[in-house]
Parts: sequence; structure tokens; C-alpha cells
Amino acid sequence: MTDFKSEIASAIAIATKIEKSEIYGYIEVPKDINNGDYAFPCFKLAKALKKAPQTIAEDIKNNITIDNNKILKIDIVSGYLNFYINKKIMAEEVLERIENKEDFGKALAQNNKNIVIDYSSPNIAKPFHIGHLKTTVIGGALYNIYKYLGYNVTGVNHLGDYGTQFGKLIEGYKLWGNEYDLEENPIDKLAEIYKRINELCKEDENVLNNCRENFKLLEQGDEYCTRLWQEFKDLSIKEFQKIYDLLGTKFDSWNGEAFYADKTDEVIKILKDKGVLKESEGAIIVDLSDVGIETPCIVCKSNGSTIYATRDLAAILYRARTYDYDKCIYVTSYEQNLHFKQIFEVAKFLGLDEKYTKGLEHVPYGFVRLSTGKMSTRLGNFVKVEDLLNDAISEAKRIIEEKNPDLDNKEETAKKVGIGAVIFNDLATSRIKDEVFDIKAMLNFQGETGPYIQYTYVRTNSVLEKVNNNKPKFKDIDIELLQDDYSINIIKLIYNFEDILNQVIDKSEPSILARYLIDLSKAFSLFYSENKIICDDKNLQEARVYLTYATGKVLKNGAKLLGIEMPEKM
Ligand code: ARG
Repeated sequence: MTDFKSEIASAIAIATKIEKSEIYGYIEVPKDINNGDYAFPCFKLAKALKKAPQTIAEDIKNNITIDNNKILKIDIVSGYLNFYINKKIMAEEVLERIENKEDFGKALAQNNKNIVIDYSSPNIAKPFHIGHLKTTVIGGALYNIYKYLGYNVTGVNHLGDYGTQFGKLIEGYKLWGNEYDLEENPIDKLAEIYKRINELCKEDENVLNNCRENFKLLEQGDEYCTRLWQEFKDLSIKEFQKIYDLLGTKFDSWNGEAFYADKTDEVIKILKDKGVLKESEGAIIVDLSDVGIETPCIVCKSNGSTIYATRDLAAILYRARTYDYDKCIYVTSYEQNLHFKQIFEVAKFLGLDEKYTKGLEHVPYGFVRLSTGKMSTRLGNFVKVEDLLNDAISEAKRIIEEKNPDLDNKEETAKKVGIGAVIFNDLATSRIKDEVFDIKAMLNFQGETGPYIQYTYVRTNSVLEKVNNNKPKFKDIDIELLQDDYSINIIKLIYNFEDILNQVIDKSEPSILARYLIDLSKAFSLFYSENKIICDDKNLQEARVYLTYATGKVLKNGAKLLGIEMPEKM
């Protein structure tokens, strides 16, 4: 397929003698179609070329060599170069390709880069909170998109299944285990035991010592302690799995913190040999003030035990060796910004090839607030994610009953719509922004929501039904009939699909795809209301039905990458 953006970038690069990749990164797709199909903001080069944007624009326009069958016109508008492409070429190529390729937009070649994505990663024996839902959804979308683009991806659920808290939990269980039936709501009960034992520890030093002893025993592989820990872990995973089943989340590895417990010695040895370890208040730390991080990274507490950070360092070593990653991405809330800054710095002392330290990337996201005012904090008043998901499904069911009581497969559809709404909501705004979780708003079929996209897809389906699902063949349609603004708008969006996916991974920002699907849905709604699709002119009808089919296909593929399933009817 002609890559217009790339051809424009090459031509500008030659005219300005600036790297193509840099130019490519600056090229925009104007929101207003009156400003052409691609725009180059010349002010980006003002510094390098030491010229005013307007002059740069004129110079480029005068010197550029470009295929003028593909680029029909170049305009200068306030320091921007606007490029107008030959839409017939674009339409022809994009619409042909969509027919032949089931997974339109998918990278043609296998990309041999290795990507590790660490996401979800809840803590066992603790509630899976609404923040974990967000990493699960963002990480899952990145996982799907990297795969689609041909990368080698490993999804890791780095479970929080280790730490001194398990010494406490074991003690609490010893004391009160018989009061609780862990088969039902195990996490709630473990959390309660944990709260109780913490309170007791504050009152009674002996109990605290017992807890420490338990953790030591666990570290040494004591049978009883290990058995209890394993049970807490199994029960927790069983609960988490219910959420993963609802969301369709998959992992390639469940190596959590405990997996690294016997791998931290090596980390400490390497850091010691490097001479970067210091003692501070009994703890062993790496001082990072030289690189502007005022809080030191603790690798060993005063009681000799390692911490979260030490295990993360061991995980970096392990992942570099096992997966030979080009990128290792961590999706967590921005509360962990400092933690990742620290370990990424300390990782530079681990003697790894630069490739591995450069490939570390933290992908932070904002807080999630419930519309009821409840926060998802560490301080209790947790709302169970499983309940929220089920509430969304029930609400979807209620709406379906109201709007379309005769629908077949109501349960299945309600599940797709309810879950789709939640996933979309988590992805719709740029990830760093705080988010409000409001089930009614996310299920608004007319809003910028998951159900709106699903509904648009269902409309494309019903158009195809009207022609008995006889999708016209590309070779039979007349592209000339798809040159009106509404059609062109859709064609352009479809053409940009692959570029959008690349932007998502460049910025680790699935909201770009979420927004895109809203734009495409809106473009289709306009096309649908302004253009009569089923009409007397058979040629026109064929062309429009074909475009409808193409839109549906991209909506479905795009949504699937976000983790959203499309109902065929709703
Ligand atoms: N378990 C942590 C939490 O719930 C997240 C772990 C993220 N991954 C990592 N490698 N540190 O906050």
C-alpha cells in the first residue's frame, strides 16, 4: 500500500537534509479536512535550520520533489505545509487490501523484537482493586497490539506474592484460621485476618516476633509455612481468575515476586562488587543523589530481608537473560513513579548490556475514582472489581431488555456490552489522567463509549443483512462513487489504522486507538445519515455497502485489540 506519510517524510528529508525519522515523527493528520490530508509543522525545524517557519515552508515547497500523481497539491498555511493526496489512489489501495486481509492493519512481516509487558500484577491475599483493573486493561491492550504488529510478546503477571506480610498472615491464620471459611470470598477473609493480626502486632511485641519468625521459616522453605502460603496464593489466583475470565486477560508467565526470592543474592553480590552499596541506618542502600534522585534505593532492610525493589532488580536480570527483551514495559499507577525511577537507575549497575537498561519503560496511569465518591485507596473501603464488572453486565442487560427485549443471546450480548463499556472507559482518556468510574455514563449508547462503538458495528452488520450478506466484491465497485466527503472521511480513517496502532505502541497509549474508534464510529454515523446506502442506483449501493463492510471490519478488529468483543446484534 502506498505509504503517503512516509513518502512525504522522505521528500521533506531530502529537501531539508534532516533525518527522515525525525520528519516522520512531526507529520500530523489535520483534524479539519480543509487543511489537507497531512500537515508538516515547519516551526519544528526553526531551530535546526535557523529560519522562520514561513521561510522554511517556502523553501521546502520550492525544492521538494514528489510524485505529483500521488500528492496533488501542497499549500502553505501559517507555517504549515499542507499536503493533499490523491484520494482515488488511497481509496483503491485501502479498499482492496481490506478485502484480502482478514486482519487488516496487521504488520506484514514478523517483527523480531522481543517485548515483555508486566501488567495486572495484583497482590495475593489482598483485594484486586480498581487500579489493578486499569493496569490489566491497558497492559492487555498493549499486549494485543504489539502482537498484532508482529512483535514477540511475553505478558507477565508479576504477582505480589512475597514479603514479610506473609509472616503476619501465617500467624493470623494460626491464631484464628478456624474462625474463617476460606472457600468463600477468601480474599476478603484473608484481608480481615491481616488487619486483625496487624492490630495485635502493635499491642504485642511477641506476636510481631512470631510473625518475623514465620517469614524466616517461609524463606527457609519450612513445610507448614510454605503450605499455608501456597494455599493463600492458590485461593487468591482463583479469585483473580474470575476477573481475567470476564475480561479475557491472558498471561504467558505468572512469575511473581516469590519466584525471585532466591535470585536476589546475586543482585546484591553484583551491586556490592560494583561498589555501589552503602549502609544507612542499618539498611543497605544505593545512593542515587548523583542522578538527581534524592530518595535512596533500599535493597536490604536492617533485618536483612530484601524488598520489593530487590526482587524487581532480580526480575530485570532474569528477563534480560530469559527473554532477551528489547523493551520491558511496566504498567502501574503513577504512585510507583519513584520506585521505577530508582530501579531503572540501579539496573545500570547490574552489568547488563545497555540494550536492556535502555529498554526499560514505566507506563504510569492516573487514579480511578468511583462516581459514588469512594476512592480506591490502600485504606480499605474497597469495591470489588468482580462486583463492578457484574454490575456493568446487569446494567447492560437492563438496557437491552428495555430497548430490544426480543434479542437472541441476551446474556451473551449483555456480557460483551457491559465488559466492553468498562474496558473502553479505562482506555478512553489519556492514561495519566485521573478517571471516574461511572457505570451509567460508560453504558450510554449515545456517548463516547464502548457500547456506542459496538452499536455502530451492529449497524454496519444490519446494512449487510439488508443485502442478504452478499458483500460486493472489490473488483465490482466503482471508487468514483466514493469521493464525497463522508465516504472519503471514512476511507482516510481506515487508511490510518496501521499508523494509529504504531502510535499506540510508540507512546504506550491505547487511548489513541480508543479515540480513533470513536472517530470512525462518528464518521460512519454521518455517512449513514447523509448517504442513502440502500438505494435504487445499484452501483452506488454496491460501493456504499462495500464501504460499510470495510468500516465494520476495522471497528471489529480495532475493538478486539482493546479487548472488546463485538456483538453481532444488540
Ligand atoms: N504488585 C504491585 C502492586 O499491586 C504491582 C507490581 C508491578 N510490577 C512490578 N514488576 N513491580 O502495586
